[in-house]
Amino acid sequence: MGDVTKRMRPLEAADPTIHALIRREVARQEQGLELIASENFVSRAVLEALGSVLTNKYAEGYPGKRYYGGCEVVDEIEQLAIDRALELFGADHANVQPHSGAQANMAAFLAVLEPGDTLMGMLLTHGGHLTHGAKVNASGRLFRAVQYGVDETTGRIDLDRVREQALAERPRLVIAGGSAYPREIDFAGFAAVAQEVGATFMVDMAHFAGLVAAGVCGSPVPHADIVTSTTHKTLRGPRGGFILSRAAVAKAIDKQVFPGTQGGPLEHVIAAKAVAFAEALTPGFRTYAKEVVANARALGEALADRGYRLVSGGTDTHLLLVDLRDREYTGKDAEEALGQAGIHVNKNTVPGDQRSPFVTSGMRLGTSALTTRGMGTAEMQHIAELIDRLLQAPTDTTIERVGRQVRELSLAFPLYGAPVAVG
Ligand SMILES: Cc1ncc(COP(=O)(O)O)c(C=O)c1O
Repeated sequence: MGDVTKRMRPLEAADPTIHALIRREVARQEQGLELIASENFVSRAVLEALGSVLTNKYAEGYPGKRYYGGCEVVDEIEQLAIDRALELFGADHANVQPHSGAQANMAAFLAVLEPGDTLMGMLLTHGGHLTHGAKVNASGRLFRAVQYGVDETTGRIDLDRVREQALAERPRLVIAGGSAYPREIDFAGFAAVAQEVGATFMVDMAHFAGLVAAGVCGSPVPHADIVTSTTHKTLRGPRGGFILSRAAVAKAIDKQVFPGTQGGPLEHVIAAKAVAFAEALTPGFRTYAKEVVANARALGEALADRGYRLVSGGTDTHLLLVDLRDREYTGKDAEEALGQAGIHVNKNTVPGDQRSPFVTSGMRLGTSALTTRGMGTAEMQHIAELIDRLLQAPTDTTIERVGRQVRELSLAFPLYGAPVAVG
């Protein structure tokens, strides 16, 4: 009896240490300017689904075909998540079980490739993702990975070069999409290249899935055999992944998610994905996604006006890649200095970077999170000014002054209710 009572205590009483750390993180998120391009702030409804008793349930298998009893409720939840994903993106098939974007990619690869087969993806240092064939990742160890880059003068993908490389290397899988590419991708052009060499075409839309859902950027779904994604970036859902595919590869995808690469699905996360998909289906989300892109443009223009070089000259999406090679400081210096004032960006290699990924000559900024807080183009101009002021002279005094303005600005756009008091 005593144990039951104890176990039903709220977190604050049961584990004050973890509770206090979560409060600290709430304060950090409330009081800082989140410009990390892969982050966002989920709704209370998403948080509630994530924190639900669905975490208790094992449900290996798929709705209606499980290896465990008692799945009638989670079956309905998972089916709703699938139906909503399909309504949102219009694909033949959706698998909402991948625990993350990396898991979604590995399952997709194993559905269409055998170990040793050739895949072709964008270079990590040119804006691609680790899981698209980097040597340190399983994708680069299990498969023969051929990597394409961007044209270093334009910062853009040159499809003619991609085609030449594909004709020479004959990959079985061509991957488009990345983590630091600010421009829209020509999915039809990529699909034609893949078709010419007899490859499966996959798009990893993790970064821009929310923009696709809102119709603010073109959809890869009509062009690709497989589309993988995360749910937590522009799409503003819980941390997780999902896979859309054509009917022809649907069975193979399902098999490679479970039992191929995962065990029991995280039904609490799947419920939260369903909530986020429903949110993304609303007109309000469409407005949000438009504002995300408008804010990224405004921030980019304000930085360019202050002399910062943007890779590819600007953005079509939520993210900006700033080339710092004409500066005396590195991407790492910039990330650290801005972080001290509560402006959170990440260092990032730029195409042709001579510095290591731990140092880099660039910084990546994204506007998804700040737009969720309700900030608009006027705030983006103010933020560009704060960034510039700090990077020009990262002294203790500037950090202190800029930091104060960062807190003031942040607290004017509360996140999860009343702002946390500033000490
Ligand atoms: C394009 C792309 N794919 C996959 C991933 C991996 O997602 P996760 O961190 O959920 O494994 C990321 C994450 O940054 C990404 O940017």
